[in-house]
Amino acid sequence: MDNPLAASSSPPPPEGAGAGVEVIPDTEPDYKITAGDRLLEAIKRFVPNAETRHHLLAQYARAYAAFPPHYHIPSALEKTVRFHDRSLPLAVGGPIFLAAGGNKTAEHLAAFAELGFGGISVGSATLKPWDGNPFRPRVRLLPADRAMQNSMGLNNPGIEHIAREVDAALGRCHRRRMAIGISVTDTPGVTEEARILAEVEASFRRAYGAADYVELNLSCPNTGTTRLDTDVDLLRRILDHVMNVRKSLVPRKAVLVKLSPDMGVKTLEAVLQTVSDAGVSGLVLFNTFPGDKGKYLRMATAPADVEPLTHAGSKGGISGRILYKNTLPAIRYIRQQLPHMTLFASGGIDHGEKVLDLLEAGADAVQVYTVLAYRWNAVRQMNKELLAAMKARGVRNLEGYAPWRAGE
Ligand SMILES: Cc1cc2nc3c(=O)[nH]c(=O)nc-3n(C[C@H](O)[C@H](O)[C@H](O)COP(=O)(O)O)c2cc1C
Repeated sequence: MDNPLAASSSPPPPEGAGAGVEVIPDTEPDYKITAGDRLLEAIKRFVPNAETRHHLLAQYARAYAAFPPHYHIPSALEKTVRFHDRSLPLAVGGPIFLAAGGNKTAEHLAAFAELGFGGISVGSATLKPWDGNPFRPRVRLLPADRAMQNSMGLNNPGIEHIAREVDAALGRCHRRRMAIGISVTDTPGVTEEARILAEVEASFRRAYGAADYVELNLSCPNTGTTRLDTDVDLLRRILDHVMNVRKSLVPRKAVLVKLSPDMGVKTLEAVLQTVSDAGVSGLVLFNTFPGDKGKYLRMATAPADVEPLTHAGSKGGISGRILYKNTLPAIRYIRQQLPHMTLFASGGIDHGEKVLDLLEAGADAVQVYTVLAYRWNAVRQMNKELLAAMKARGVRNLEGYAPWRAGE
């Protein structure tokens, strides 16, 4: 494989710095602060706890959904997300999905259509209910970088609860042209391989029965356990196991693997080879960036000023705008390496023009979360900006839009 940094004047990053860091300049599309954004700042002062605000998101969506007129994503943003392995395609109203972690409990799923989403990755779900990390706070904002620092540790009500909620809401979500995936993860602290495989298989089977697609989150940096996405041999065994299970399940649904953004070139190459060999349907690129490696992010907040979230000094995962400079070049690079794979971009996407840039570079859809903490009505705004960017570039609609194919 080519070095993803070949086009860059910077030297390749050390292992662990992130595949695309340093490649694109700091000129990113930015948004104007609106009266709504100021209102959001006032709400933050009124409700200072970021985790409490996170819980309010679903209530906010529900309140919106209770009052007509209902929001409809502009029809030019409709698209069908397809998969090389002939998994059921996802017909969605727009390309912006809610990333895993944004709705961990599967509550009020259909109401999220009101916020402008084309899909939701619910969870992540463990086999049994999981409380997450015991300390507080587990989430903090880093406003200078429009970032979030989180170490929630995969708190969720367990796959059975989540799958039942999805079962109940899926029809309503489809009527609003929203696809629902379930993100499945291993139980933090479990290191015995046979148990990891058995638990992931059980959660996977239940998620598969309920959702439109399943996302395997093997890259959470916040649980203190070994990350499974960088242990390439273990990753191979997990994926072979899961994909073998899928062979016996009908209909065929997409299986996506979510990776971490901090891999250096060597590890990334090995991981890409592994996911490709395993025959997964697609990738989610990426999870949060491990905060302990914050020096690689060139943040406005000095790494030393990023306070630890745990007594042991861990800084959790960093998300938000600061990640975008890695997300775009990584999508471009990975698209070249794996032209057949469906790619969901995630990391610092906070403007509609960025969505179009990512779709041009090779993404099939995008996932967002942290922008919701900084922009009022973020996804509706981004849908509007995306439409404007499409008009400016002469793109009439997103159905079948994949300009990167021309350079394949
Ligand atoms: C508070 C919080 C909780 C998260 N929980 C999960 C999770 O449970 N599973 C997962 O795969 N990703 C989780 N993520 C990562 C997001 O899905 C997303 O990949 C990441 O935040 C980058 O996107 P963003 O910059 O738009 O936030 C979480 C992120 C945050 C900020």
